[in-house]
Amino acid sequence: MPQLDGLPTPALLLDLDRLEANLRDMADRARRLDVSLRPHSKTHKCIEIARRQVELGARGLTVSTLYEARLFAKHGFEDLTWAFPLVPARLAEAVELAGRVELGLVIDAPETLRALEAARAPVRVLLKVDCGYHRAGVDPAGPDVLELAQGIAGAPRLVFGGLLTHSGHAYKGNRLAVAGQERDVMVRCAERLRAAGIEVPLVSVGSTPAMTAIDHLEGVDEMRPGNYALYDYTQTVLGSCAVRDCAVSVLTSVVSCPRAADHAVVDAGALAMSQDPGPAGDGFGRIFADYQAGRLEPDLRLASVSQEHGILSGRRPVGDRLRVLPNHSCLTVAQFDEYHVVRGTEVVDRWKIWRGRD
Ligand SMILES: Cc1ncc(COP(=O)(O)O)c(C=O)c1O
Repeated sequence: MPQLDGLPTPALLLDLDRLEANLRDMADRARRLDVSLRPHSKTHKCIEIARRQVELGARGLTVSTLYEARLFAKHGFEDLTWAFPLVPARLAEAVELAGRVELGLVIDAPETLRALEAARAPVRVLLKVDCGYHRAGVDPAGPDVLELAQGIAGAPRLVFGGLLTHSGHAYKGNRLAVAGQERDVMVRCAERLRAAGIEVPLVSVGSTPAMTAIDHLEGVDEMRPGNYALYDYTQTVLGSCAVRDCAVSVLTSVVSCPRAADHAVVDAGALAMSQDPGPAGDGFGRIFADYQAGRLEPDLRLASVSQEHGILSGRRPVGDRLRVLPNHSCLTVAQFDEYHVVRGTEVVDRWKIWRGRD
Protein backbone atom coordinates (compact mmCIF):
# COMPACT_ATOMS: atom_id res chain seq x y z
CA MET A 1 0.00 0.00 0.00
CA PRO A 2 1.26 3.52 -0.77
CA GLN A 3 2.02 5.63 2.28
CA LEU A 4 1.14 9.24 3.04
CA ASP A 5 4.86 10.08 3.03
CA GLY A 6 5.03 9.37 -0.69
CA LEU A 7 2.14 11.60 -1.81
CA PRO A 8 2.83 14.73 -3.85
CA THR A 9 1.40 17.86 -2.26
CA PRO A 10 -0.98 19.56 -2.02
CA ALA A 11 -3.25 16.52 -1.63
CA LEU A 12 -6.76 16.19 -0.26
CA LEU A 13 -6.89 13.39 2.31
CA LEU A 14 -10.10 11.61 3.27
CA ASP A 15 -10.00 9.58 6.46
CA LEU A 16 -12.13 6.54 5.71
CA ASP A 17 -12.84 5.52 9.30
CA ARG A 18 -13.97 9.01 10.26
CA LEU A 19 -16.11 9.34 7.13
CA GLU A 20 -17.85 6.02 7.79
CA ALA A 21 -18.45 6.89 11.46
CA ASN A 22 -19.97 10.26 10.48
CA LEU A 23 -22.25 8.62 7.92
CA ARG A 24 -23.39 5.99 10.42
CA ASP A 25 -24.00 8.53 13.18
CA MET A 26 -26.25 10.74 11.06
CA ALA A 27 -28.13 7.74 9.64
CA ASP A 28 -28.78 6.58 13.22
CA ARG A 29 -29.80 10.06 14.24
CA ALA A 30 -32.34 10.29 11.41
CA ARG A 31 -33.81 6.94 12.47
CA ARG A 32 -34.05 8.06 16.10
CA LEU A 33 -35.72 11.31 15.03
CA ASP A 34 -38.05 9.29 12.80
CA VAL A 35 -37.34 11.22 9.59
CA SER A 36 -35.91 10.25 6.22
CA LEU A 37 -32.36 11.32 5.45
CA ARG A 38 -31.63 12.93 2.08
CA PRO A 39 -27.97 13.99 2.40
CA HIS A 40 -26.74 16.99 0.45
CA SER A 41 -24.18 15.63 -2.01
CA LYS A 42 -22.67 19.03 -2.86
CA THR A 43 -20.38 18.58 0.16
CA HIS A 44 -18.56 15.53 -1.24
CA LYS A 45 -19.49 15.35 -4.99
CA CYS A 46 -18.45 11.73 -4.85
CA ILE A 47 -20.15 8.54 -6.04
CA GLU A 48 -18.43 6.28 -3.50
CA ILE A 49 -19.61 8.45 -0.58
CA ALA A 50 -23.15 8.74 -1.93
CA ARG A 51 -23.31 4.94 -2.30
CA ARG A 52 -22.35 4.54 1.35
CA GLN A 53 -25.05 7.04 2.37
CA VAL A 54 -27.72 5.14 0.47
CA GLU A 55 -26.51 1.78 1.81
CA LEU A 56 -26.96 3.21 5.31
CA GLY A 57 -30.59 4.05 4.53
CA ALA A 58 -30.63 7.49 2.90
CA ARG A 59 -33.87 7.90 1.01
CA GLY A 60 -32.28 9.73 -1.88
CA LEU A 61 -29.86 12.59 -2.44
CA THR A 62 -30.00 16.35 -2.45
CA VAL A 63 -28.08 18.14 -5.21
CA SER A 64 -27.36 21.81 -5.81
CA THR A 65 -26.69 21.87 -9.56
CA LEU A 66 -28.10 20.24 -12.65
CA TYR A 67 -24.61 18.83 -13.26
CA GLU A 68 -24.78 16.98 -9.92
CA ALA A 69 -28.33 15.81 -10.68
CA ARG A 70 -27.25 14.36 -14.03
CA LEU A 71 -24.10 12.86 -12.56
CA PHE A 72 -25.87 10.99 -9.77
CA ALA A 73 -28.71 9.94 -12.10
CA LYS A 74 -26.12 8.48 -14.48
CA HIS A 75 -24.64 6.46 -11.62
CA GLY A 76 -27.95 4.91 -10.63
CA PHE A 77 -29.28 7.33 -7.99
CA GLU A 78 -32.90 7.71 -8.97
CA ASP A 79 -34.44 9.85 -6.22
CA LEU A 80 -33.05 13.38 -6.25
CA THR A 81 -34.05 16.83 -5.04
CA TRP A 82 -32.45 19.80 -6.77
CA ALA A 83 -32.56 22.03 -3.69
CA PHE A 84 -31.79 25.29 -5.44
CA PRO A 85 -34.28 27.77 -6.88
CA LEU A 86 -34.98 26.50 -10.39
CA VAL A 87 -32.84 28.30 -12.96
CA PRO A 88 -35.35 29.37 -15.64
CA ALA A 89 -32.89 28.93 -18.51
CA ARG A 90 -32.36 25.28 -17.51
CA LEU A 91 -36.00 24.32 -17.25
CA ALA A 92 -36.05 22.21 -20.41
CA GLU A 93 -33.01 20.20 -19.24
CA ALA A 94 -34.53 19.70 -15.79
CA VAL A 95 -37.80 18.50 -17.31
CA GLU A 96 -35.90 16.07 -19.54
CA LEU A 97 -34.07 14.62 -16.51
CA ALA A 98 -37.31 14.47 -14.50
CA GLY A 99 -38.64 12.20 -17.25
CA ARG A 100 -35.90 9.66 -16.49
CA VAL A 101 -35.52 9.76 -12.67
CA GLU A 102 -37.51 11.00 -9.69
CA LEU A 103 -36.36 14.65 -9.57
CA GLY A 104 -37.90 17.23 -7.26
CA LEU A 105 -37.56 20.86 -8.38
CA VAL A 106 -37.68 23.82 -6.02
CA ILE A 107 -39.26 27.23 -6.62
CA ASP A 108 -40.15 30.32 -4.62
CA ALA A 109 -41.28 32.75 -7.33
CA PRO A 110 -44.44 33.20 -9.43
CA GLU A 111 -42.27 33.75 -12.53
CA THR A 112 -40.79 30.25 -12.21
CA LEU A 113 -44.21 28.76 -11.59
CA ARG A 114 -45.51 30.38 -14.77
CA ALA A 115 -42.55 29.00 -16.74
CA LEU A 116 -43.23 25.51 -15.35
CA GLU A 117 -46.94 25.75 -16.22
CA ALA A 118 -46.03 26.82 -19.73
CA ALA A 119 -43.68 23.83 -20.11
CA ARG A 120 -46.71 21.56 -19.44
CA ALA A 121 -44.43 18.83 -18.08
CA PRO A 122 -45.34 16.37 -15.32
CA VAL A 123 -42.77 17.39 -12.69
CA ARG A 124 -42.73 17.36 -8.90
CA VAL A 125 -42.30 20.84 -7.48
CA LEU A 126 -41.40 21.76 -3.91
CA LEU A 127 -41.97 25.19 -2.46
CA LYS A 128 -39.02 26.84 -0.75
CA VAL A 129 -39.93 28.52 2.54
CA ASP A 130 -37.80 31.02 4.46
CA CYS A 131 -37.60 29.67 8.01
CA GLY A 132 -35.48 32.61 9.24
CA TYR A 133 -32.25 32.42 7.21
CA HIS A 134 -33.53 35.16 4.84
CA ARG A 135 -31.59 33.97 1.80
CA ALA A 136 -34.34 32.57 -0.42
CA GLY A 137 -37.85 31.26 0.09
CA VAL A 138 -41.32 32.62 0.66
CA ASP A 139 -42.50 34.11 3.94
CA PRO A 140 -44.27 31.25 5.75
CA ALA A 141 -46.89 33.66 7.17
CA GLY A 142 -47.41 35.80 4.05
CA PRO A 143 -49.78 35.44 1.09
CA ASP A 144 -47.22 34.05 -1.44
CA VAL A 145 -46.89 30.66 0.22
CA LEU A 146 -50.63 29.97 -0.19
CA GLU A 147 -50.80 31.37 -3.70
CA LEU A 148 -47.78 29.44 -4.94
CA ALA A 149 -48.76 26.15 -3.25
CA GLN A 150 -52.28 26.48 -4.68
CA GLY A 151 -50.79 27.35 -8.07
CA ILE A 152 -48.56 24.25 -8.10
CA ALA A 153 -51.26 21.92 -6.74
CA GLY A 154 -53.83 23.29 -9.22
CA ALA A 155 -51.63 23.25 -12.34
CA PRO A 156 -52.78 20.49 -14.70
CA ARG A 157 -49.52 18.53 -14.92
CA LEU A 158 -47.49 19.64 -11.90
CA VAL A 159 -47.34 17.65 -8.67
CA PHE A 160 -46.99 19.56 -5.40
CA GLY A 161 -44.08 17.85 -3.63
CA GLY A 162 -44.28 19.73 -0.33
CA LEU A 163 -42.31 22.35 1.61
CA LEU A 164 -38.53 22.68 1.86
CA THR A 165 -36.32 24.99 3.90
CA HIS A 166 -32.67 25.38 4.91
CA SER A 167 -31.55 26.61 8.34
CA GLY A 168 -28.35 28.34 7.19
CA HIS A 169 -28.69 30.76 10.11
CA ALA A 170 -27.70 27.88 12.43
CA TYR A 171 -24.13 28.83 11.38
CA LYS A 172 -24.58 32.18 13.16
CA GLY A 173 -26.80 31.52 16.17
CA ASN A 174 -27.68 29.01 18.85
CA ARG A 175 -27.90 25.70 16.97
CA LEU A 176 -30.64 24.14 19.07
CA ALA A 177 -32.75 27.31 19.10
CA VAL A 178 -32.45 27.74 15.31
CA ALA A 179 -33.22 24.06 14.69
CA GLY A 180 -36.33 24.30 16.87
CA GLN A 181 -37.42 27.48 15.13
CA GLU A 182 -36.92 25.87 11.71
CA ARG A 183 -39.06 22.88 12.72
CA ASP A 184 -41.82 24.98 14.31
CA VAL A 185 -42.02 27.46 11.42
CA MET A 186 -42.31 24.62 8.91
CA VAL A 187 -44.85 22.62 10.87
CA ARG A 188 -47.04 25.73 11.30
CA CYS A 189 -46.67 26.55 7.60
CA ALA A 190 -47.74 23.02 6.60
CA GLU A 191 -50.74 23.27 8.95
CA ARG A 192 -51.72 26.56 7.36
CA LEU A 193 -51.71 25.02 3.88
CA ARG A 194 -53.61 21.96 5.07
CA ALA A 195 -56.25 24.19 6.66
CA ALA A 196 -56.65 25.80 3.23
CA GLY A 197 -57.30 22.37 1.71
CA ILE A 198 -53.84 21.82 0.19
CA GLU A 199 -52.29 18.41 0.70
CA VAL A 200 -48.66 18.72 1.91
CA PRO A 201 -46.91 15.41 1.28
CA LEU A 202 -43.48 16.43 2.61
CA VAL A 203 -41.81 18.83 5.04
CA SER A 204 -38.03 18.88 4.46
CA VAL A 205 -35.53 20.74 6.67
CA GLY A 206 -31.93 20.87 7.63
CA SER A 207 -28.37 22.02 7.90
CA THR A 208 -25.55 20.23 9.69
CA PRO A 209 -25.38 22.54 12.74
CA ALA A 210 -29.16 22.32 13.18
CA MET A 211 -29.50 18.58 12.60
CA THR A 212 -26.68 17.69 14.99
CA ALA A 213 -28.41 19.74 17.72
CA ILE A 214 -32.13 19.06 17.27
CA ASP A 215 -33.96 17.07 19.97
CA HIS A 216 -37.17 16.21 18.09
CA LEU A 217 -38.62 16.65 14.61
CA GLU A 218 -42.32 15.95 15.06
CA GLY A 219 -44.26 17.09 12.02
CA VAL A 220 -41.16 16.95 9.80
CA ASP A 221 -40.61 14.18 7.24
CA GLU A 222 -37.08 14.61 5.96
CA MET A 223 -33.69 16.12 6.86
CA ARG A 224 -31.02 17.21 4.35
CA PRO A 225 -27.68 17.85 6.10
CA GLY A 226 -24.60 17.67 3.87
CA ASN A 227 -21.48 18.84 5.66
CA TYR A 228 -21.78 16.17 8.39
CA ALA A 229 -20.13 13.60 6.11
CA LEU A 230 -16.79 15.40 6.35
CA TYR A 231 -17.19 18.17 8.95
CA ASP A 232 -14.54 20.94 9.24
CA TYR A 233 -13.05 23.56 11.52
CA THR A 234 -16.16 25.75 11.40
CA GLN A 235 -18.30 22.86 12.64
CA THR A 236 -15.91 22.23 15.53
CA VAL A 237 -16.23 25.86 16.61
CA LEU A 238 -20.02 25.66 16.34
CA GLY A 239 -20.00 22.50 18.44
CA SER A 240 -21.48 20.20 15.76
CA CYS A 241 -18.51 17.81 16.07
CA ALA A 242 -15.05 17.33 17.58
CA VAL A 243 -11.76 17.87 15.71
CA ARG A 244 -11.23 14.10 15.62
CA ASP A 245 -14.49 13.74 13.62
CA CYS A 246 -13.19 15.90 10.76
CA ALA A 247 -12.63 13.58 7.82
CA VAL A 248 -10.82 15.78 5.29
CA SER A 249 -7.48 17.52 5.60
CA VAL A 250 -5.05 19.01 3.12
CA LEU A 251 -1.53 17.61 3.10
CA THR A 252 0.90 20.41 2.34
CA SER A 253 4.68 21.00 2.20
CA VAL A 254 6.69 23.90 3.57
CA VAL A 255 8.44 25.38 0.52
CA SER A 256 10.03 28.58 1.85
CA CYS A 257 11.06 30.06 5.19
CA PRO A 258 13.20 33.16 4.54
CA ARG A 259 15.86 33.78 7.18
CA ALA A 260 14.44 37.14 8.32
CA ALA A 261 10.78 36.19 8.14
CA ASP A 262 8.55 35.17 11.01
CA HIS A 263 6.46 33.06 8.64
CA ALA A 264 6.83 30.07 6.36
CA VAL A 265 5.24 29.39 2.97
CA VAL A 266 3.32 26.21 2.10
CA ASP A 267 1.88 24.87 -1.17
CA ALA A 268 -1.73 25.14 0.03
CA GLY A 269 -3.13 28.49 -1.10
CA ALA A 270 -6.61 29.59 -2.08
CA LEU A 271 -6.76 26.99 -4.87
CA ALA A 272 -6.35 24.24 -2.27
CA MET A 273 -8.14 25.59 0.79
CA SER A 274 -10.63 28.08 -0.79
CA GLN A 275 -10.88 31.57 0.66
CA ASP A 276 -13.60 30.77 3.14
CA PRO A 277 -12.86 33.12 6.05
CA GLY A 278 -14.00 30.59 8.65
CA PRO A 279 -15.19 31.48 12.10
CA ALA A 280 -14.27 35.12 12.78
CA GLY A 281 -10.71 35.91 11.78
CA ASP A 282 -9.21 32.49 12.45
CA GLY A 283 -7.27 32.43 9.17
CA PHE A 284 -7.74 29.95 6.32
CA GLY A 285 -7.09 26.62 8.03
CA ARG A 286 -5.77 25.17 11.26
CA ILE A 287 -2.69 22.96 11.47
CA PHE A 288 -2.82 19.53 13.09
CA ALA A 289 -0.31 18.97 15.90
CA ASP A 290 -1.46 15.34 16.24
CA TYR A 291 -3.90 14.17 13.58
CA GLN A 292 -4.90 10.87 15.19
CA ALA A 293 -5.55 12.51 18.57
CA GLY A 294 -7.46 15.38 16.91
CA ARG A 295 -5.15 17.98 18.42
CA LEU A 296 -4.49 21.32 16.66
CA GLU A 297 -1.41 23.52 16.96
CA PRO A 298 -2.50 26.24 19.41
CA ASP A 299 -0.56 29.08 17.79
CA LEU A 300 0.21 28.04 14.21
CA ARG A 301 -2.36 28.61 11.47
CA LEU A 302 -2.70 29.38 7.79
CA ALA A 303 -2.76 33.14 8.22
CA SER A 304 -3.30 34.13 4.58
CA VAL A 305 -3.61 32.65 1.13
CA SER A 306 -2.91 33.80 -2.40
CA GLN A 307 -3.52 31.63 -5.45
CA GLU A 308 -1.01 28.83 -4.74
CA HIS A 309 0.85 30.21 -1.70
CA GLY A 310 -0.30 29.71 1.84
CA ILE A 311 1.37 31.75 4.58
CA LEU A 312 1.84 30.12 7.96
CA SER A 313 1.72 32.32 11.04
CA GLY A 314 5.07 30.91 12.25
CA ARG A 315 8.35 29.45 11.03
CA ARG A 316 8.71 25.82 9.93
CA PRO A 317 11.64 24.15 8.16
CA VAL A 318 11.45 23.74 4.39
CA GLY A 319 10.45 20.19 3.55
CA ASP A 320 8.15 19.74 6.60
CA ARG A 321 4.80 18.22 5.71
CA LEU A 322 1.70 19.37 7.56
CA ARG A 323 -1.99 18.47 7.61
CA VAL A 324 -4.36 21.42 7.46
CA LEU A 325 -7.95 21.32 8.72
CA PRO A 326 -10.09 23.36 6.29
CA ASN A 327 -12.50 26.05 7.46
CA HIS A 328 -15.19 24.78 5.10
CA SER A 329 -14.80 21.28 3.73
CA CYS A 330 -17.42 21.70 0.97
CA LEU A 331 -15.41 24.53 -0.63
CA THR A 332 -12.03 22.83 -0.08
CA VAL A 333 -13.23 19.58 -1.68
CA ALA A 334 -14.42 21.58 -4.69
CA GLN A 335 -10.80 22.69 -5.33
CA PHE A 336 -9.56 19.10 -5.93
CA ASP A 337 -10.05 16.41 -8.54
CA GLU A 338 -9.74 13.44 -6.19
CA TYR A 339 -9.65 12.27 -2.60
CA HIS A 340 -6.70 10.24 -1.40
CA VAL A 341 -8.58 7.86 0.87
CA VAL A 342 -6.49 7.03 3.92
CA ARG A 343 -6.54 4.68 6.89
CA GLY A 344 -3.88 5.70 9.38
CA THR A 345 -0.83 6.45 7.23
CA GLU A 346 -1.83 4.16 4.36
CA VAL A 347 -3.42 5.44 1.17
CA VAL A 348 -6.05 2.78 0.48
CA ASP A 349 -7.90 4.30 -2.50
CA ARG A 350 -8.50 7.31 -4.74
CA TRP A 351 -12.02 8.60 -5.34
CA LYS A 352 -12.97 11.09 -8.02
CA ILE A 353 -14.48 14.45 -7.06
CA TRP A 354 -17.03 15.41 -9.70
CA ARG A 355 -16.74 19.16 -9.66
CA GLY A 356 -17.97 20.03 -13.16
CA ARG A 357 -20.58 22.67 -13.84
CA ASP A 358 -22.20 22.12 -17.25
C1 LIG B 1 -30.84 24.05 0.38
C2 LIG B 1 -29.82 23.38 1.23
N1 LIG B 1 -30.15 22.26 1.89
C3 LIG B 1 -29.26 21.62 2.69
C4 LIG B 1 -27.97 22.10 2.86
C5 LIG B 1 -27.00 21.34 3.75
O1 LIG B 1 -26.51 22.14 4.77
P1 LIG B 1 -25.15 21.76 5.54
O2 LIG B 1 -24.07 21.83 4.54
O3 LIG B 1 -25.05 22.74 6.65
O4 LIG B 1 -25.32 20.38 6.04
C6 LIG B 1 -27.59 23.26 2.18
C7 LIG B 1 -26.24 23.82 2.34
O5 LIG B 1 -25.91 24.90 1.94
C8 LIG B 1 -28.54 23.92 1.34
O6 LIG B 1 -28.22 25.04 0.67
